[in-house]
Amino acid sequence: MSQDIFELRSRHRRDYDPYSKASIQEHLDEIADRRRRSPVSYSTRGNGCWVLTTYDDISGVLRRNNRGFVSFPNDPDGLNVQGARAALIPIEIDGERHRQFRRVLDPLFSPGRVAALEPRLREAANALIDEFVEEGACEFVEHFAMPFPGATFLALMGWPAEDLPRLNRWVATVHHGVPGATEEESNAARAAVVTEMRDYVVALIADRRENPRDDVTTHCLQAEIEGRRLSDDELFDLFLLMMLAGLDTVQSVLAQSFAFFGRYPGRWAEMFDGPAGVEAAIEELLRWTAPAIPTRTVTDESALVGDVELPRGERVHFPLAAANRDPKYYPDPDSIVFDRPAKPHLAFGMGTHRCVGVHLARLELRVAFAEIRRRLPEFALAPGSEPDEHLGLSWGVENVHIVFPPGRREGRDRP
Ligand code: HEM
Repeated sequence: MSQDIFELRSRHRRDYDPYSKASIQEHLDEIADRRRRSPVSYSTRGNGCWVLTTYDDISGVLRRNNRGFVSFPNDPDGLNVQGARAALIPIEIDGERHRQFRRVLDPLFSPGRVAALEPRLREAANALIDEFVEEGACEFVEHFAMPFPGATFLALMGWPAEDLPRLNRWVATVHHGVPGATEEESNAARAAVVTEMRDYVVALIADRRENPRDDVTTHCLQAEIEGRRLSDDELFDLFLLMMLAGLDTVQSVLAQSFAFFGRYPGRWAEMFDGPAGVEAAIEELLRWTAPAIPTRTVTDESALVGDVELPRGERVHFPLAAANRDPKYYPDPDSIVFDRPAKPHLAFGMGTHRCVGVHLARLELRVAFAEIRRRLPEFALAPGSEPDEHLGLSWGVENVHIVFPPGRREGRDRP
């Protein structure tokens, strides 16, 4: 490695811990300080990476995917921590192969196909609410934010609804390890879970080859990429990413939002009754919660990011929340302002890898907020409780204890 890169790194050095134990807001405060003093900086933690903090730099890199940057490995340390056989598909592949996958996936998540799921999503939401509505109290993450996207995902994929608890356990372990355990213990748990997931997916694939249906699993089995059908390893890398991308993200947006409304109960009514309308309010919550944290690697001889010329092989890492809290575009960025003037947020990413599930995610959020509002017109954090949060490769909230005036069951079946 040339002397120049060491000089460049040390000139811009400011260490950064993506796995810090700070709260999300404390971490964002630190990012705000970096944005002011060292918007593009080099962190030596782990295997080292560059950290971006401004909307312009982050959107600039995302726009240049395939032209100077690749998305493999999508991890700040350049490691395969999530258990893919080769690379997570499609998030860690680029170029023509990526385009072919998107041509298969995009129609399966089109607005029309996703809209057909709405009645099932309403059923699923109400069945979950039925389980706690009479109690007057619940832990919202365990009883709604986690199972709701899981139930949606199983319906979409055509996988058995009763597999929901293990699916949620798998995704939580891969994303967040074991709460309170050492990194080694968490990695051992991740490896065990990935083996279980693989056995499960391979059995499902075998079954669906015998018994094709009109579901996402069957469509992926029948798709041809580069002139051939996908191997079991490729299907695993695809379904693993879909589980990780589809479950934890919606869960995080719901959990962060309910922690916010629990702290500021008056804002719950404002979300629905304000002049901007519910859809604008959901976009503002997406801006504010933005859980995903992509990483890219420079493949051109060099790439200009901010005012730093990064040579080939350097990794850039950027919480999308950092872009979404940039005061250049969002005045008073840490406040939730439901009628904020429109400026597209980056919660779903940008460019070639922009989220496949964007219509599904918006539908899930719309249904979840509407049904909870109908059945829990008021709620607040349980007295003395404070939600536990985590950072990492997807930011979120582990528990949100809420209390509310008890309601009545509507007699729906559990999803
Ligand atoms: C609020 C919920 C969601 C958020 C905030 C979100 C966010 C994102 C982001 C930021 C990316 C791009 C990451 C990158 O550039 O490295 C992405 C990609 C992706 N998301 Fe989502 N997502 C959500 C829900 C979903 C759902 C429900 C699904 C489907 C079940 C899904 C499937 C995917 C897939 C397959 C990709 C990879 C796209 C590609 O690489 O071309 N997402 N998502």
